[in-house]
Amino acid sequence: MKNPVSLAIVGATGLIGDAVVNLLAAREFPIDQIYLLASAESAGTPIEFNEKSHRVRDLAGFDFSQVELAIFCAPAKVAAHYVPVAQAAGCTVIDHSDYFRLDDSVPLVIPEINPHLLETCRPGDLISCPDSATTQMLLAIYPIYQEVGIKRIDVTTCLAVSSIGKIGIEELSKQAIALLNLKKLQAKQFSQQIAFNLLPQDTEFADADLSRQESLFIKETQKILADPDISIAPWHIDAPVFFGHSQTLTIETKENISVEDASNLLAGMPGLVHDKQIDALIPTAVTHAASHEEVYLGRLRSLPEPLHGVGMWLVADNIRRGAAMGSVQIAEILVKGYL
Ligand SMILES: NC(=O)c1ccc[n+]([C@@H]2O[C@H](COP(=O)([O-])OP(=O)(O)OC[C@H]3O[C@@H](n4cnc5c(N)ncnc54)[C@H](OP(=O)(O)O)[C@@H]3O)[C@@H](O)[C@H]2O)c1
Repeated sequence: MKNPVSLAIVGATGLIGDAVVNLLAAREFPIDQIYLLASAESAGTPIEFNEKSHRVRDLAGFDFSQVELAIFCAPAKVAAHYVPVAQAAGCTVIDHSDYFRLDDSVPLVIPEINPHLLETCRPGDLISCPDSATTQMLLAIYPIYQEVGIKRIDVTTCLAVSSIGKIGIEELSKQAIALLNLKKLQAKQFSQQIAFNLLPQDTEFADADLSRQESLFIKETQKILADPDISIAPWHIDAPVFFGHSQTLTIETKENISVEDASNLLAGMPGLVHDKQIDALIPTAVTHAASHEEVYLGRLRSLPEPLHGVGMWLVADNIRRGAAMGSVQIAEILVKGYL
């Protein structure tokens, strides 16, 4: 392994930033200096890292030439402004926001699927991470895609409220407390009541009556697989769950595949846990996925004739597995020879 690197975490006080900091420590990432950055309001907040207390610094004015690598875990508008600033200072950037994901010149990487894109990385380059729902689905379908090809995927994702960051957690908590105390609730971050409810996304339609996130989900999947012909029909539904997205998938394959063969293939995918490997229960976001680094799979089943393919249920922690693990694994690859 290379000598320790100096690293900045932008958005260290947010949900993903916090998970990244925890994973870097748990996985003993080789760090010389770490700079924890956020907005001016958070400057001075203490954060524990490797048993030392670090003070959060204001991102504005930070000198990125002090660090070789920055992991951005901040809103898209912050990434849009500061990623180029960091790159201009020679710093390599891994970005979690959606701002650069579909840019043809920016690799969109899931380390278990397309790590080869990192082989051409040079200091000052930018790598984007996909959305958690995209990562969760791709980790489970990729072995099947490679073996028999995939024509079409019908996928419904029930998104945890943490998918919109800490404001989502706050909104669900406040609404649940209000309702249980027979008080009037306020909907600020979601278009309607999210507590004890399900909301099909309806706020920002992009193309073909898809929500913006559904449209992005299709394009991210096609970009990562380098397969513009794969057909994907997604539904994104906001659910009153704090952590962990839940997905149902109907995967129509190009060639026939039995449930048994699919199960054997999936057993070889790192980070994917089949329900039979854990207990008799079907995994759920809350009972199995939350705070874990694996994608959990259950109810693997065949499709009705004449369709070829399989159906499945998937859950994963959107913060820890869907997002933070990806950037930390990318950083681990980069530190071995591309920084
Ligand atoms: N949540 C998910 O499931 C998920 C999944 C994949 C990707 N993403 C993307 O990852 C990014 C972070 O998401 P999150 O869920 O961690 O959000 P979050 O909990 O809301 O955290 C946002 C972080 O960005 C910082 N920030 C906001 N405005 C800033 C500014 N003007 N200058 C400096 N720092 C600023 C915040 O600092 P303060 O605390 O000081 O405000 C906080 O540390 C977003 O782009 C999001 O779209 C999220």
